[in-house]
Amino acid sequence: MLSRYIFTIAIFHGLISLCMSYFPQLTLYSGHNYDGDRVTFSTKRSSLTPLEEEFFRSARSYCVTGWWRGYENANFVAGSSNPFNANNVSGISCWRNGDKITKSLRFMGPSDTSTSAISAYNGVPNSGDHYSGIEVIVLATEYEASFDFAPSGLLITGMSNWTAFYERNFTGPSTCFIPTSEIYTVSLGTFQVLSVRLGCN
Ligand SMILES: *[C@@H]1O[C@H](CO)[C@@H](O)[C@H](O)[C@H]1NC(C)=O
Ligand SMILES: *[C@@H]1O[C@H](CO)[C@@H](O)[C@H](O)[C@H]1NC(C)=O
Ligand SMILES: *[C@@H]1O[C@H](CO)[C@@H](O)[C@H](O)[C@H]1NC(C)=O
Repeated sequence: MLSRYIFTIAIFHGLISLCMSYFPQLTLYSGHNYDGDRVTFSTKRSSLTPLEEEFFRSARSYCVTGWWRGYENANFVAGSSNPFNANNVSGISCWRNGDKITKSLRFMGPSDTSTSAISAYNGVPNSGDHYSGIEVIVLATEYEASFDFAPSGLLITGMSNWTAFYERNFTGPSTCFIPTSEIYTVSLGTFQVLSVRLGCN
C-alpha cells in the first residue's frame, strides 16, 4: 500500500517535469467491460447527432484521455443535472458509468496540455458551472488578449504564468496566476477579469 503511494507520488512529479503530450480522446462502449459497440470522439462538438446522444444514454463504460465535459444542451450550455465529466490528463482512464444526457461535448482547452495557453469560459449565470459556455483560448504566442465577456472560469495549460487584469486593455487591478499543475483551473468569484497577458512581473 505504502509503496504504491510512493510510486504514485513519483509518477505525479515525473509528469510535471516531463510535460506530457497527448491527444484527447473519448470512447464510449455499449458493454460494461469496454466491449460491444463503440463510439470515439476526438474533436469539440457543439451538437451531437441524435444517434450519438442515444449512445451517451445507453453507454455502460468509457475510456478517456484528457479532460472531457458533456453538456445537457447544445453549444456547451450546462443543465441542472450531473454532466458527463471525465479527466485524466496524463493517460487513459476507464470507468463503468452511463445514463448521461449529453447534447454537446468537448475537451477543455487546447488539444495538448503542454501548449502554453489560458482558456476563458463564460459559464452559466447562477448555475455554479464555471466551465460551460463560450470558450476563448489565448495562446502564449498571442501574448495578450482582452475578452468580450467577464469569464466565470479560467484554465491554464503548459505551466505558463499569466497576469489577469480587471479591465480591458491590461488596466485596472491585476493578479498573477502561477500554475501548480499541467491543467490549472481558476474559478473566478467576484474578481472580474477582462484581459490577460503572458507572464507576471
Ligand atoms: C491516468 O493515466 C495513467 C497512464 O495511462 C494511468 O497510469 C493512471 O492510473 C490514470 N489515472 C487514473 C485516475 O485512472
Ligand atoms: C512562473 O513564475 C514562477 C514564480 O515567479 C517562476 O519560478 C517560473 O519560472 C515562471 N514560469 C515561467 C514559464 O516563466
Ligand atoms: C482598448 O484599446 C483599443 C485600441 O487601442 C481602443 O479602441 C479601446 O477603446 C480601448 N478600450 C478600453 C476599454 O480602454
